[in-house]
Amino acid sequence: MIRIGIIGLGYWGPNLVRCFSDLDDCKVTAVCDQNYDHLLQIKDRYPSVYPLESFDALLDRDLVDAVVIATPTASHFDLTRRALERDLHVFVEKPLAESTEQCRELVRLAGERNRCLFVGHVFLHASPVIKLRELIASDELGKINYISSRRLNLGPVRSDVNALYDLAPHDISMMLYLLDQSPTSVTCCGFDRLHPGIHDVCNLTLNFPDKRMGMVHVSWLDPRKERVLTVVGDKKMAVYDDLEQEKIKVFDKGIDRPSSATGDFAEFQIAYRYGGSYSPFIQEQEPLKAECGEFLRCIAEGDLPRTDGTNGLQVVQVLEAAQVSLHSGGHPVCLQTLQPLPPPTVTA
Ligand SMILES: NC(=O)c1ccc[n+]([C@@H]2O[C@H](COP(=O)([O-])OP(=O)(O)OC[C@H]3O[C@@H](n4cnc5c(N)ncnc54)[C@H](O)[C@@H]3O)[C@@H](O)[C@H]2O)c1
Repeated sequence: MIRIGIIGLGYWGPNLVRCFSDLDDCKVTAVCDQNYDHLLQIKDRYPSVYPLESFDALLDRDLVDAVVIATPTASHFDLTRRALERDLHVFVEKPLAESTEQCRELVRLAGERNRCLFVGHVFLHASPVIKLRELIASDELGKINYISSRRLNLGPVRSDVNALYDLAPHDISMMLYLLDQSPTSVTCCGFDRLHPGIHDVCNLTLNFPDKRMGMVHVSWLDPRKERVLTVVGDKKMAVYDDLEQEKIKVFDKGIDRPSSATGDFAEFQIAYRYGGSYSPFIQEQEPLKAECGEFLRCIAEGDLPRTDGTNGLQVVQVLEAAQVSLHSGGHPVCLQTLQPLPPPTVTA
């Protein structure tokens, strides 16, 4: 039985308390929050847990084997580091930390201590995303040209991080997982209306090798809630709408261009393909519960999680480069150097 301690009981933490409490292979033994009212609310619902105001008290090896961190981003590095130094397994909400330097330090520490470092990229444990990856791997969609995603709503507004750091980790983690690679450069533009310097709306472009692209539009200043990811392949296209009953639709649609470069004019006509569509069967499971179960399985079996520290680092690499681009007026920024790329040379 794995004993779990959970820190951060604001908006998201209580969902983690519920999911871990529902699972058989663990017991939530303690919870921690510096806000006493948040602690009391959890204690009322789960009378057997120890409510603690001090994180140091939660890190007691006689009380917990693993720690779940659902506090604001700025605290992730320090709390995760302290838990790993006590030889505890850690589940930390996205993003892993504020900078790639911090992420590298946490990956190093988890390796040195041989502990499971698990990042809350919840969509990589969601059945529709796993199904999309299967569709891509089986070549049903053909060569992937681009993936676009929209994550919009009116609120919840944050003042500690911008919409890029708050919302885009989900879309970035899905794109990296679906394409199985990291982008080489990114551009990002945004709009800060509510708190100067904290962007409410961001448009991010990820440039992957082989001219593949990712486009992410995130906003907490939008009239409608949208959670849509579209994968455009050269054979078929798929749309994942997380708010729909049938979450994935595969469209046999496309535009075909004759491959021959010679011949008469007719050969250069493009042909639109309007085939049918279908929704693949997807085993329904709450993604957050699947994610919590996967954390426990990785601890029990000593497996490396899909969303391990390195995966967390890759997502923060994109966020960090996007932030540089955002503050340089949307210039393309190289992921490796974090430097703006020179303008493309125009050849006659
Ligand atoms: N996976 C998802 O879909 C999802 C959704 C929402 C939030 N999140 C993530 O969850 C984390 C928390 O977000 P939230 O919206 O719940 O934030 P929140 O501000 O609503 O809650 C944070 C809680 O942490 C407590 N806290 C902060 N620092 C603390 C400390 N040092 N010691 C003890 N308690 C402390 C606060 O008192 C508060 O109760 C963030 O990393 C966020 O990105 C993930």
